[in-house]
Amino acid sequence: MIDLKITKTATPKEKPDESNLGFGKIFTDHMLMVDYSRKEGWHDARIIPFQNISLCPASTVLHYGSEVFEGMKAYRTQSGEVQLFRPIENVRRLNNSAERLGLPQMDEQYCLELIKAIVEIDKDWVPSKEGTSLYIRPFMYGNDPHLGVHSIDNATFVIILSPVGSYYKEGINPVKIIIETEDVRAVRGGTGYAKCGGNYAASVRAGEKAEKKGYAQVLWLDGVERKYIEEVGAMNVMFKINGEIITPKLTGSVLPGITRKSCIELLKDWGEKVSERLLSVDELTEAVMNGTLEEAWGTGTAAVVSPIGMLSFNDKEYVVNGGKIGPITQKLYDELTGIQWGKKEDKKNWIEKI
Ligand code: PLP
Ligand code: COI
Repeated sequence: MIDLKITKTATPKEKPDESNLGFGKIFTDHMLMVDYSRKEGWHDARIIPFQNISLCPASTVLHYGSEVFEGMKAYRTQSGEVQLFRPIENVRRLNNSAERLGLPQMDEQYCLELIKAIVEIDKDWVPSKEGTSLYIRPFMYGNDPHLGVHSIDNATFVIILSPVGSYYKEGINPVKIIIETEDVRAVRGGTGYAKCGGNYAASVRAGEKAEKKGYAQVLWLDGVERKYIEEVGAMNVMFKINGEIITPKLTGSVLPGITRKSCIELLKDWGEKVSERLLSVDELTEAVMNGTLEEAWGTGTAAVVSPIGMLSFNDKEYVVNGGKIGPITQKLYDELTGIQWGKKEDKKNWIEKI
């Protein structure tokens, strides 16, 4: 048992309409907080009513962006149980991200227990309507009350929960993606592989531009040669070209997605040829033009498996698979969501029950 103080809300909120959840706008009754100091380590773990956080105006996170986060989900099965999907992978990635940002490490099992504890408290908030889930957002920030740029002595770890529907308004329908040619998201040696707030802050400008043109998100190119496909705003990408399923290899500037890893494992089990390699934008557009690009899709916790129906590059639009979802994308979606929502057998031990 972990040492955790629980203060329940005296004023529970009304549960939302499950047919209109959107993404990340509604929060549950409780949140979890743990403090860290170099002297005491992690201490004072507590579950409290969902509330605002108070910070010193000099706090590190407000000035130097010392923040990392995770995104995972709790799913309700048809029999009413609540389950997590590969949660230890998120815990490990959180520690990898924290290491890159100079934030403290957290014991893996301890972190997992904290996640389970807050989900348990707000279990009734896990929605049951098809395609919905409880999004879990653990995050950690540096919290030293002085302005020098230095290693971090104080930090805070928080978990908030949000009942969600689909991330894109398109749902499982294909999204339109634009290849970004001006801004870059990350470079090798930078923070691309870490899930830190700064990566997302730097992506907002391009995202806004894309949205104005009618695209759901941008597809980033590598930051050095601006030639190789990296990933989309909130998902990794996969392309089926001439029978080969290609996904950009993890060169340090791409987020190592847990959905990506899971899809690769499933595809290999099915006997598909999967290559983690460099894929240039020229090879990709050439494949559209000569008809060898069979399917394109993104993978992510929020986005699940999301077909890409159109790619735009240098003001030219490339339609993928007639703008429709392809058979591999559909099969991956069915298998993955089947396992997550408990409709399919969990042959790989990916599921952890609450
Ligand atoms: N790439 C980026 C930039 C993301 O924000 C996400 C979402 O977490 C992913 C990829 C997919 O990662 P995962 O499958 O672990 O959710
Ligand atoms: C996720 O899929 O968990 C994400 O983090 C996407 C997001 C930035 C909203």
